[in-house]
Parts: sequence; structure tokens; C-alpha cells
Amino acid sequence: MRKGWFEQSTRRLATVRGYQKPELNSGALKLDSNENYVIPKQFQGDILTHARRNSDVREYPLGGAERLIRAISKFVRMPPSMIGVGNGSDQILDMILGSFASKKTRVLTSDPTFGFFERRCGLYSIPMITVPFSEQMELDAKDFESKFSKADILYLDSPNNPTGFQFKKKDLQGLVRSFGGLVIIDEAYGEFGDYGLSSMTKTHKNLVVVRTLSKSFGLAGLRLGYFVANPQFTDVFMRVLQYPYPLSTIAIESGIAALERLDAVKTAVAATKSERERIIRTLGTYDSFDVFDSKANFVLFDAHGAYRRIHSALAEQGISVRKLGRIGSHGGCLRVSVGTKEMNSKFLLAVRDLLG
Ligand SMILES: Cc1ncc(COP(=O)(O)O)c(C=O)c1O
Repeated sequence: MRKGWFEQSTRRLATVRGYQKPELNSGALKLDSNENYVIPKQFQGDILTHARRNSDVREYPLGGAERLIRAISKFVRMPPSMIGVGNGSDQILDMILGSFASKKTRVLTSDPTFGFFERRCGLYSIPMITVPFSEQMELDAKDFESKFSKADILYLDSPNNPTGFQFKKKDLQGLVRSFGGLVIIDEAYGEFGDYGLSSMTKTHKNLVVVRTLSKSFGLAGLRLGYFVANPQFTDVFMRVLQYPYPLSTIAIESGIAALERLDAVKTAVAATKSERERIIRTLGTYDSFDVFDSKANFVLFDAHGAYRRIHSALAEQGISVRKLGRIGSHGGCLRVSVGTKEMNSKFLLAVRDLLG
């Protein structure tokens, strides 16, 4: 045994950049993490009451994940043998990387891509090949195809965080069809977008579509993620890789109850989409901003040289948005989540006052 190896490893890991969580700012108008405040609190109350009634937390949740999987199966119209679950889609992504990727497998993704995924690749020393967004914050499928031969894994968040961009359906389908390695399509914001690709997993064994109840269902605190993939991968993931009890009883029962209340989710998604368009339209009236189209529950805009000032002035008023800074040729990017009508109006009025 080599003396001091543990301290050395700890020191090495201390140099790896972790995922940067937003600041905890109690009482703030929280528009920095793409959470869903549009879904009424009543929805949460109902499902937690149901979960409490159906839970005995003295027991391990034996058979619980299977019941949740059956409920998800109905929702996504795919067989239960093709659905797996995780403690948030973060955990699913992490486990796929931890088990299937290494220093020798190269990941092809966009720049920017989902920050957590990027950090996880860093942690495992997985090399990344990236395709930058254009000045209009769009991606070109051809740029990816030209790099296919160098990559083993293709990861795309669709819609993308933080830009809100989603490929045209036939372009993304084309990429899935022509890539020979593992394809991970992250549809965390799928319900706010134009389409999803889950059904393609029936014909494409190398495709894993990762989804979550954190966004459209407004259940980020419960940590409920799932994926759709071929039965063989799903079996290996759930039986071998995943923990025996990855989800708590309360999360499982709440998830099942939420999937029985889809009307509330649909209403919240529709309201979010219409508010998203209002935010894009309103921010677009300022000449000093570049505002980008979005298919997710947030809007990215470049406030150029004023972005730091706007970010801190909003924070002083208790409005928290995400400060991203440079993305490609855009030097002052901020990302604002779509909240309730009232929240969005407060944000928009504060911006108007700052610029006026
Ligand atoms: C693109 C993307 N994927 C996955 C996640 C993680 O979602 P979950 O809450 O299911 O871990 C997020 C969260 O912000 C995200 O933006």
C-alpha cells in the first residue's frame, strides 16, 4: 500500500471544478434554476397527501420503483421494460458516464451544454469535443456530423440549457440515425419544446432519452428522473448499475400521484409557453439586448456590457437570474426562468426601470 494515497487523491479531486449551484437567497424571486412555480401549490399538496397516505417509511420501497415505472410507461406510451428511473436525471446521466465512459471515450456535445454533464465529464477525465452555437444561438447538424468519426458518445440536451435551442425534429432524428456510438438525448425541458424522441428508442438500440419530473411537473425537490431506452440497456441499468432503492417511498408515491394529474401539468406547460413568448417579446423591445428564441422554460439574452450591473441590481431587488457571461460571441448573457405571470411582470418591470 502506498502511504498517503488517500490524501493525494483528495487533493487531486479538490482541484476539479464542481457544479456551481445558485446562491441560496431566501425570499428571492427565484428565476435562476428553471424551476416551475407555475404549477399551483395545491398540486404539490395533493400529491404529498396521497404519498403520505400510501407510505410506510419503516420499510424499504420494495416494488415501488416498478410501480412508478408502470405509471411513467402509460405517460410516455412506451413499455415498462424500456423505462428506468433515477434520483433526478442528474443521477442517471452520472451513472451512464461512470459506467460507459472513460478517458478513452470521447463525448461530442454542444458548447454550451448542460453544466452538470460537462462537470461530470471533467470529474471522470472524459475528453469532450464541442460544437459551438452560432451567433444566433443555433446549432447546425452538419457540424456534428463532421465530427462523428472522432466521437464515441453524442450528448445533446434538447432543448438545450442554457440557450433554449431545439433542433428541427428531422435534423435531430438524422443525427440519431447516423451516429454509431451511444446517443444520449436529454429532454429535461422536452414538454416545453416542439417534440420528443422517446419512440425512436424502439428502433435505435444506441439511443437513451433522459427525462425528468423536475421541470414540467414542478417536482425538482423530489429528485425524480427517468429514461427510455432499449430493454437490454434498461435491464442492465436497473438491475446491475442502479442502487437497489434509488428513490424514496415519498418520491415514488408522489410521482405516481403526479402522473395521475396530468391536466395540471398540461395547464402549467401551456401557461409557461405563453409567458415565455411575452418575456421574449418584451425583452426584445430593448435595442441594447439580443434575445434568443427558446423552446424551454427559460429565456437567454445578451445584455452586453450591462449584464453584471443588471444582474446585481436585480439581486438587490430580490430577483435572482442566472449570470452566464460569455457564450461564443455574446459577452453578457443572462438566463431568466419563466415564472408565474406575476413573477415575470416583476422581473420585466425591474428591467424597464433599470434601463429607463
Ligand atoms: C438539461 C438538463 N438536464 C438535466 C437536468 C437535471 O434535472 P434533474 O432535476 O432531473 O436532475 C437539468 C436541470 O437543470 C437540465 O437543465
